[in-house]
Amino acid sequence: MTHLTALPGTVDAVLITGDIVDRGTAGEYRQARDVLAPLYERYEVLLCPGNHDSRAPYREVLLGGGDDGRGATAPVNEARDVGGVRVVMCDSSIPGRHDGLLAQETLNWLDDTLSAAPDRPAFVAFHHPPLPLGLPYVDAIGLREPDALAKVLARHAHVVAVLCGHAHTAAAASFAGLPLLCAPGIVSTSLLPWEQGPDTSWKTHDTPPALMYHLYEEGRLTSHVRAV
Ligand SMILES: [Fe+2]
Repeated sequence: MTHLTALPGTVDAVLITGDIVDRGTAGEYRQARDVLAPLYERYEVLLCPGNHDSRAPYREVLLGGGDDGRGATAPVNEARDVGGVRVVMCDSSIPGRHDGLLAQETLNWLDDTLSAAPDRPAFVAFHHPPLPLGLPYVDAIGLREPDALAKVLARHAHVVAVLCGHAHTAAAASFAGLPLLCAPGIVSTSLLPWEQGPDTSWKTHDTPPALMYHLYEEGRLTSHVRAV
């Protein structure tokens, strides 16, 4: 937060790809809202839920209780146009579980939202990486049924990249022919198997908090990992 709020220049948006809070209580969301307030003062702030989030209090506190008529526990999907691109944020959480899934209604919405602006470059963002990253603990709770997502993405040539979180480490991969960029975390960096030995339970390093900067200019995407 200190790094972002003290930037001498500006960025078009700050995207947080989920796990806004830990246990999903309304009190935690009020705390998150207050912690994030300085970001909202300076930037467009884009959010999507993760496995630690809970849809009803997320909507109530972070989205001002905005009811789009689908009910408090429907997937929280949102698209925003910032900096000449469309960021399409999908809810990959499954209530009560740590693995993820893009529900059929979310995939339909994603398809429609991408179709609505075929000339605007799009980034598709959600919490759970849709492919194994080589982190056994994280991979066991990744996105289920990634092929359904790949089929939707294949219909839209203007998608630039897929942006995820969840892994607690910066990672770059390729999914459905697109760059897949996994933002690092701010605490508890996940360890690779050769960093932790035979016990595959979740073990972490205390590495500095980090974030990823994405530059999209003249059809080129360049991403930088910044430890702070
Ligand atoms: Fe997560």
